[in-house]
Amino acid sequence: MTRRSLLTRIAFSPLSRHSSSVKRRDVSSAAVTVNAAKSASAGFAKENAVVIDSVEVSSSSVVVDRPTAADHHPDSFVDRHIGPRSEDIEKMLQTLDVKSLDEVMDLTIPRSIRREFQMQMPEPLSEQELAVRARVLSLENEAKDFSSYIGMGYYNTITPTVIQRNLMENPGWYTQYTPYQPEISQGRLESLLNWQTMVQDLTALPVANASLLDEATAAAEALGMALKAHPDKKRVLLDHKMHPQTIAVVKTRASGFGVTVELGDVMGKGEEEEEIERGLFCAVMFQYPDTEGAIRDYSKLTHKCTQAKTLSVCATDLLALSQLRAPGEFGCDVALGSAQRFGVPLGYGGPHAAFFACSEEHLRRLPGRLVGVSIDSSGNRALRLTLTTREQHIRRDKATSNICTAQALLANIASMYAIYHGPKGIRDIAQMVHHYTRALSVGVGASGHFRVVNETFFDTLTIDLGQRKGEIMERAQQRKHNFRNMDNNKIGVSMDETLTMDKLAAVLDIFHSPLSAEECWKEATVATSSPSLHWAMGGFERESEILTHKVFNSYHSEHLLTRYLKKLENKDFSLVHSMAPLGSCTMKLTATSEIMPISLRGFNSIHPFVPNPQQQTRGYLSLMGELEQDLKEMTGYSAISFQPNSGAQGEYAGLRAIDAYHQSRGNSQRKVCVIPKSAHGTNPASAQMAGLRVVPLDVDKEGGNVSIEQMTKLADKHKHTLSAVMLTYPSTFGVFEEDIKVIADIVHHYGGQFYLDGANMNALVGHCRPVDFGADVCHLNMHKTFCIPHGGGGPGVGPIGVAQHLVPFLPNHPVIDVNAGGAMGSQSSPGPVSSAPWGSSSILPISWAFMRMMGSVGLKKATEVAILSANYMRKRLEGEYKILYTGKHGFCAHEFIIDTRPFKKTSGIEAHDIAKRLQDFGLHAPTMSWPVGNTLMIEPTESEDKGELDRYIEALLIIRQEIRDIEQGLILTHQSPLKHAPHTAAVVCGEEWDRVYSRHTGAFPAPFVQPASKVWPSVGRLNDQYGDLNLACSCDKVEGF
Ligand SMILES: Cc1ncc(COP(=O)(O)O)c(C=O)c1O
Repeated sequence: MTRRSLLTRIAFSPLSRHSSSVKRRDVSSAAVTVNAAKSASAGFAKENAVVIDSVEVSSSSVVVDRPTAADHHPDSFVDRHIGPRSEDIEKMLQTLDVKSLDEVMDLTIPRSIRREFQMQMPEPLSEQELAVRARVLSLENEAKDFSSYIGMGYYNTITPTVIQRNLMENPGWYTQYTPYQPEISQGRLESLLNWQTMVQDLTALPVANASLLDEATAAAEALGMALKAHPDKKRVLLDHKMHPQTIAVVKTRASGFGVTVELGDVMGKGEEEEEIERGLFCAVMFQYPDTEGAIRDYSKLTHKCTQAKTLSVCATDLLALSQLRAPGEFGCDVALGSAQRFGVPLGYGGPHAAFFACSEEHLRRLPGRLVGVSIDSSGNRALRLTLTTREQHIRRDKATSNICTAQALLANIASMYAIYHGPKGIRDIAQMVHHYTRALSVGVGASGHFRVVNETFFDTLTIDLGQRKGEIMERAQQRKHNFRNMDNNKIGVSMDETLTMDKLAAVLDIFHSPLSAEECWKEATVATSSPSLHWAMGGFERESEILTHKVFNSYHSEHLLTRYLKKLENKDFSLVHSMAPLGSCTMKLTATSEIMPISLRGFNSIHPFVPNPQQQTRGYLSLMGELEQDLKEMTGYSAISFQPNSGAQGEYAGLRAIDAYHQSRGNSQRKVCVIPKSAHGTNPASAQMAGLRVVPLDVDKEGGNVSIEQMTKLADKHKHTLSAVMLTYPSTFGVFEEDIKVIADIVHHYGGQFYLDGANMNALVGHCRPVDFGADVCHLNMHKTFCIPHGGGGPGVGPIGVAQHLVPFLPNHPVIDVNAGGAMGSQSSPGPVSSAPWGSSSILPISWAFMRMMGSVGLKKATEVAILSANYMRKRLEGEYKILYTGKHGFCAHEFIIDTRPFKKTSGIEAHDIAKRLQDFGLHAPTMSWPVGNTLMIEPTESEDKGELDRYIEALLIIRQEIRDIEQGLILTHQSPLKHAPHTAAVVCGEEWDRVYSRHTGAFPAPFVQPASKVWPSVGRLNDQYGDLNLACSCDKVEGF
């Protein structure tokens, strides 16, 4: 029985509400009692609402055997997620002259792929039930009760609550889009510039980017940089004391590039040293401090690398760098690592931001985004993304990297952590962490049985337990402590900022230390019994200042930081203001109920490498199991890998799976990847990274469809080498190509595999499945269709689904068995693609919650309304704008392109003028100039209500009139508000006003734009040329700030 029919049955009858026929609803798989209380508030519905006020763990089962909130309450999550009310849907259908949503689907999705099926999913939960269920699952993660000392690049940290509440959990920050419209993104651009400055400062390197996906992929990007710098050198040397996940991910990437990875001691004297000196490697990489905790002096090595034209790459730790000499101070070309321990919760592996800094020489090879300083139309300082011509959006398979969605939100959290603590606070934290480590080394030494292996350390000890390893590890488990299990008789113990004397005492006790925590602490201070402690940091203490810029020395009280965060937020447009109909980006609602679980300790406090996940992270495994089941149901695939942490990473993982499959069949020559010219830039960039050769495919000018003729010709021409064809469906033009199955048949006929870019899954869910039209693998952008917010440029989650024959080739992991010995991630896997076994695990609850609350009927309806809304807007605009592509019945999919190219000739107006003018209406531009130059692609999503759609339409119609005014000679192009947009408050309120239109027209171009609620752009139109010519990518010097 669906939730709706259940509600109808019991609707508004107090008797039936208490009827025993109300279904028992299992909200938990663990032992839980729900304490329910009736709301005291007046009113019929409220009075009877069940309010869940707490969850207690008890010994047995799980079933809430009383009417639950969802059974009782007329509220339905589906109606909260979907914007248009039923009467609005009626009106929208009338506009389209159709009778039902079904008819809309008939006119949109080709018969050949439409599937009449009901997805098998549990009944939807209400928001209150979801909260209970999420809590229950989080409680099932026993690891939350363990103290983690595992380290390996992941540490407990304290997220300052002021940052948690005002940034991480604040839709004004997390629903922002990537700052491609800089005039309404100055807040997050400033925050990312702070991040770049922080990274440059701590690493002592002059250039840093605006974050990457994780430490291991950052190291893989460094390999890409090295190959671009030294294309003839196909060998890379990795120190064997790097984190194992970093080594493994670099190996995966290297094999795609045809590069040999050699593991060894980069400081060794033998063959390696000689080969380094002979310049045989494109890069030499090492960890500082290394994975066992030791601090080594790499300065001679980096010198040799410079002589030998080899990139020296240092994977490092920002907290350690506040104490240790910085990589830039001992000659490194690149420093990279994770900023997780700067206030970003462990989250079972992610999302966290990675940093990447380099010397000036490599600036143009820098992966990822870069924020730069420029000026606006009034000559004032303004920020923007710079050097974008390096990126895949423009350079495609020649791009320096493949970073589209990165981890912007997490980078912002980390830089705010540095701002809040300031240089002194960061140093104090680091010194405290180091002192605890010293105290532990004293205690372990005093036990007389165990030996600290590393003589130098910052926060990590490798301890040789000899024959007693089993006993000590068991004792640790009994006392709920997770240590790192290393080879032979060794273990690793890493300290962090959450340590206390009590915790230290508990650890010491595990090692049978005869000394108390206080005694160890004291001895660590005076170091009488252990003079070597004076040299714990290897004589490598940092002498230079850190975080000297004013921004890191200004906001150390909560009032000050709250106001700074608010000041930045106020400069930015996000979904809290109005819609951002960015084609292909699906800027839909992230509901509060979906995001709340990510703050539960049981989800966010867990180290990704806890031993025995079946026991310690049962809750996570259940949640991922349910999410996987739902995604399999929607796509028809046999397995899903959650490891890729962005869409681009998903593409890469999928293509590597295809490549490994061909190799397993003796077809390693299959290296050609056919990709339409209209594809997203990440497609060719991923193919190149996977070692494939990109062959571009035309699309026809009339319908935007792939040319079957050319496709057949290309497949035939490359029949011995065809690896894959990569298509987005519905296409990047917003059209369901009728011939999709034919295309799949052609690919398969010629021995290739069909890769489907699932960024447009929002048009498919519940109505057709990629597997049915022949796609072998597909990535799913969870940060689009499945509600993970865009966060101003990430977090991302890009799982892939694969057909049965590709399952063995999904990513594996060197530390954690991702499939408990199953086929997934087996020996045939090309290797891991991310640092963490399940990528950005801690935000999977968002998508899971969406599915659980929508249920199959709700999800299906969401697709229908997304397509309806796009067609409603298309229809209302088509008299005034040319709609570029539609399907055979004149309908678009969930997005459509308006052709603004003709205006250039008739009025001198281009897509970006329209985009800037939309800012004056308080609206965000659609996707600009992609997939067709000088056009706008609109995707409204199902979450926007009709009133919002109408306002957007009204704005575009007013803009069309402004273009017509130019066309009719009523105003000159350069005098039009379109060319002066956006209008800032400073300009509109300035003394001078020399425009031919009024101030009011400039700032309040439609009746719905009101002074009391207007969102003002904080700067005028950006001057791109100035920014390119005067490159500056860090905060100004103190005087200029
Ligand atoms: C069609 C398409 N494919 C792939 C991607 C890449 O996804 P991500 O940004 O998560 O790397 C995007 C992102 O906008 C996209 O629109």
